[in-house]
Amino acid sequence: MNDNSLEARLSAAIAGLPRVSLGWLQTPLEAAPRLSAALGGPPIYIKRDDLTGLSFGGNKTRMLEFSIADAQAKGADTIVYGAAVQSNYCRQLAGACAKVGFECHLVMRPEREMDSTQITGNGLVQRLLGAHVTVLPDNDRAKQQEAIHAKAAELRAAGKNVYVPRQPDTVDLEALSYAISALEVVQQARGQGIEPSWLYVAAADTTQAGLVLGLKAIGSSLKVRGINPSFKNGNEERMAVMANQAAERLDLDVTFTAADFDNDDSYVGERYGVPTPEGLAAISTVAQNEGVLLDPVYTGKAMGALIDHIRSGKISADEPVIFLHTGGAPALFGYAEEMIAALAG
Ligand SMILES: Cc1ncc(COP(=O)(O)O)c(C=O)c1O
Repeated sequence: MNDNSLEARLSAAIAGLPRVSLGWLQTPLEAAPRLSAALGGPPIYIKRDDLTGLSFGGNKTRMLEFSIADAQAKGADTIVYGAAVQSNYCRQLAGACAKVGFECHLVMRPEREMDSTQITGNGLVQRLLGAHVTVLPDNDRAKQQEAIHAKAAELRAAGKNVYVPRQPDTVDLEALSYAISALEVVQQARGQGIEPSWLYVAAADTTQAGLVLGLKAIGSSLKVRGINPSFKNGNEERMAVMANQAAERLDLDVTFTAADFDNDDSYVGERYGVPTPEGLAAISTVAQNEGVLLDPVYTGKAMGALIDHIRSGKISADEPVIFLHTGGAPALFGYAEEMIAALAG
């Protein structure tokens, strides 16, 4: 089978799944020549998944096209989920719920002290989109999971048909949306006459699982390097499970192990949700050379890693790189103080 027929097979397999249109797809692949020159590095291209369109966009819009369709197929009228207060996923989820007419309940955990006292950035947008937002007292992920399931049970008891996304049997639906983004990148690069070696992306699980799934399914040599916003805890193993589950759902002849996933957590800094000086510097470098806005929690740290890898020679000047911009810029408004201090130098 040649590459094009593998690409057609992947597209056809995904086209067979229930899907609701939420975003503006496909997203552009843009050259970033001033950024490349400023870094003295290889040609850099930015895949603009920050421009998916829904409620400020981002990578989660692609994912929600499949999980919201799954919720609709199961007769849901209400979604319950939760993440960090500044969650981009929850912002786009609230936007998706508004668009399809679902009630949306978000049970959020504070990552910083101000998350319990101020409503900024994504927190504001989630509420504006009509989500019912609860902020828990503690930054404790286990307690948060319990609170999410308790909220779902409470709403079910009140007669709602509740869907909780990203469960073990449905999370692969979100991951596989990134096989489409991978396919877009490969086809756009070919169309632009580029042969990229690397794709850098801020990734903890679903995004990288789907990208690697898509690239392996079409026999692409493009290598994905995920830069994790958190310290890893079995992430590559989880990615392999998601990618295998998605491959099975799509009837694709590919299998994965943790070794298929290159995921680096050495740019986290203190912890998830706390900006790093290198990440903040990367945000202003990209803003001032390309007019593109990154974010302090995910894409700034990922770009900081790419810049470091270019400067240290880990990526050479003859290896064109794709930076997949997964969105998140609304969080800038929740980190204005840190950003202003970094700009002041
Ligand atoms: C802007 C941004 N980039 C990257 C990610 C990581 O996505 P994933 O958890 O699918 O790896 C997220 C997740 O919330 C995000 O909001």
